[in-house]
Amino acid sequence: MARHGSLVRRGLGPGLLVVILTALGCASVKDIPAVDGPVAAAAESSGASIASVSHGHDLYVHNCNRCHPYKLPASRSKEEWEGILPRMTKRAGLNEVEAADVRAFVFAARDASEREQTK
Ligand code: HEC
Repeated sequence: MARHGSLVRRGLGPGLLVVILTALGCASVKDIPAVDGPVAAAAESSGASIASVSHGHDLYVHNCNRCHPYKLPASRSKEEWEGILPRMTKRAGLNEVEAADVRAFVFAARDASEREQTK
């Protein structure tokens, strides 16, 4: 008990919780990759426009934690996302263009984090 208390006082408790939640694919808004250097580069090499990926990012931020915590792009394989995204964008009430933009963002962010890990 005393040990737990001192962990929390040193700030390790909350940090550890974030690590655990992130490992589970649950995340807060600050964990969502911004559409900057690495994500923009990944978008470019996949042929997606920055406008589409940025729009997808905003739609993701506003919709994808309404029913559950954010599930980060890097938490699923491409194959898994192909099955999941159509269901979720429908649940979120997005139209076809919006769904395509969310997909472009999720895939660009995934590619970017994969490249980070293999550096
Ligand atoms: C209206 C509620 C709702 C919204 C909005 C929503 N989801 Fe979900 N999501 C669910 C429910 C319910 C489940 C669990 C059942 C399932 O998998 O269908 C789920 C499950 C998931 C899973 C896990 C599925 C698996 O098989 O591993 C992922 C990943 C996910 N959502 C991503 C998203 C993304 C990305 C968005 C934004 C486009 C989103 N969700 C928006 C309700 C929602």
